[in-house]
Amino acid sequence: MSHTRCAVVVLISGRGTNLQAIIDDAQDANCPYALRAVISNRPDAAGLERARRAAIETQVVDHESYASRQHFDAALMDAIDRYAPGLVVLAGFMRILTPEFVSHYDGRLINIHPSLLPAFPGLDTHARAIASGARAHGASVHFVTADLDGGPLIVQAPVPVLAGDDADTLAARVLEQEHEILPAAIRWFADGRLSIEGGHVMLDGKPAMAQPAP
Ligand code: GAR
Repeated sequence: MSHTRCAVVVLISGRGTNLQAIIDDAQDANCPYALRAVISNRPDAAGLERARRAAIETQVVDHESYASRQHFDAALMDAIDRYAPGLVVLAGFMRILTPEFVSHYDGRLINIHPSLLPAFPGLDTHARAIASGARAHGASVHFVTADLDGGPLIVQAPVPVLAGDDADTLAARVLEQEHEILPAAIRWFADGRLSIEGGHVMLDGKPAMAQPAP
């Protein structure tokens, strides 16, 4: 029996290690999604090379070529919608998106963020976690809403903050977990196992955040 796999478009801005985790996951013959395209807002993003090596279509929509955020987001939507994706994944995509963009992909746009949200939205999360004296840190995958880094959580992976950690050692420990939870969340979505009820994500009809991490 053949199934139509969920078409996924991934947006990146940089080195693309999370993209690589998705590329590797999608090699599995039983993977419920297909990675259709990778789009970067930076022409020099190293992740573009990872996509090319895997024979995945790439596009660059350079934010510096657009007069406003609205114009950039409109061009980005055109680029994405060529692939009619069921899901759009922000994997280290470092631009703030307009409310128009976010509502266009309502319920089919997810982001990976390097902290245990709602702690440490925004940038420099690892240094801020250390400076705050936090004992636990980690990563979150969430649906994107107009509230920056504030959309409904799908899954989190905690890691300890160890004595002697600096931002780099902590970031590396978190990144390893990112590479587990992001493909897992995409599979859940592609398998139709996620829903949003009353602002909370359900996995198989039960609160997703009350379930053990993958
Ligand atoms: C990842 O740590 C991701 O969580 C973070 O950027 C890094 C990208 O790494 N994203 C954000 O900070 C989003 N605000 P990668 O390019 O190697 O996947």
